Amino acid sequence: MALDQFLTALGSMLEEARACLATVDNAESLEQLRVKYTGAKSGALKTVQKMLGSIDVKDKPAAGMRFNEVRDGIEEALGQAALRLGQAAHRPGGGSGPQSLGPVFDPTLPGLRPRIGTIHPITQTLEHLKEIMGRLGFNVTEGPEIEDQWHNFVALNIPEDHPARDPLDNFYLATAKAVSAESVTGDPPAPRLLRSQTSTVQIRVMETEPLPLRIISLGRVYRPDAPDATHFPMFHQMEGLWVDRNVTMTQLKSVLRLFATSYLGGDVSIRFRPSFFPFTEPSVEVDYWWNGQWIEFGGAGMVDPNVFQSVGIDPEIWSGFAFGLGVERLCMRRFGITDIRDLYRSDVRFLRQFAT
Ligand code: PHE
Repeated sequence: MALDQFLTALGSMLEEARACLATVDNAESLEQLRVKYTGAKSGALKTVQKMLGSIDVKDKPAAGMRFNEVRDGIEEALGQAALRLGQAAHRPGGGSGPQSLGPVFDPTLPGLRPRIGTIHPITQTLEHLKEIMGRLGFNVTEGPEIEDQWHNFVALNIPEDHPARDPLDNFYLATAKAVSAESVTGDPPAPRLLRSQTSTVQIRVMETEPLPLRIISLGRVYRPDAPDATHFPMFHQMEGLWVDRNVTMTQLKSVLRLFATSYLGGDVSIRFRPSFFPFTEPSVEVDYWWNGQWIEFGGAGMVDPNVFQSVGIDPEIWSGFAFGLGVERLCMRRFGITDIRDLYRSDVRFLRQFAT
């Protein structure tokens, strides 16, 4: 057989097969086409392959090469048609015949195991703290993360010129909204901010709740610190507030010591160092002795009479204490985490270690 005749026959076969397979619209016809072209006994490819025998020896390599191309082309077109009709192109077992068509489901393959998430160490810590403080009689409250100057500063006895209000130390928000909100009340416009401490919740609770009260509030606070191993621009605090008649510093120390013992374990001692906060008087820094060193966990003190007055509570009748502890520190101590940034990298390989 002449080479050009052979090549022409191959060419038109490929064209015809492609045209049919491009329009085939049901599994049965597809199977008929498969048999017609690739059938093992009398498929078109088989017939042409037989003709290869009668090709001149010198033309055989070219003819064979073209034959392979055409066979691959037809197989590809078959595969595409099968995909289009929703069938797997390659069927396990290599069966042919109408029964082997249709969507392939192999019940012996292993399933895809859903990945179950774990509770973030900070969330675990928040729950743990709530549980301990709940046993000490403290109710959990919440406050907004976007605050006004009144709750973040003014009512907390932090005057206008206090460095804590410096724009460099706070995330103030764009002023447009604040201006329109304040103008309703007639107050001077003041920008809102992301709260820099949870002490804001002390004010919100005393403004609305009847006395006596005993609350904690856990949540996020924001300060524009450059992130390093011990700083992050967002972190969590636990605020505590107890207002009643005759609340004393003894009770403050007892509550914080009971809390520390319960959270960190039996060997914890607690130390108060004199300090200053505008909203407590006297004020202290709270240190815990843990694993051979003093570690600062937050601030505390007796509620300043000016704060009581700003929310309409008579300081001659009522007294109280407040404290604010850093949640990340408590969490990191307990879990042996040394870099706060690891908590917020969202690296599941790291976070999964703390699965409960
Ligand atoms: N708000 C203080 C801080 O962020 C902590 C504090 C809370 C101190 C309550 C005294 C009383 O540093």
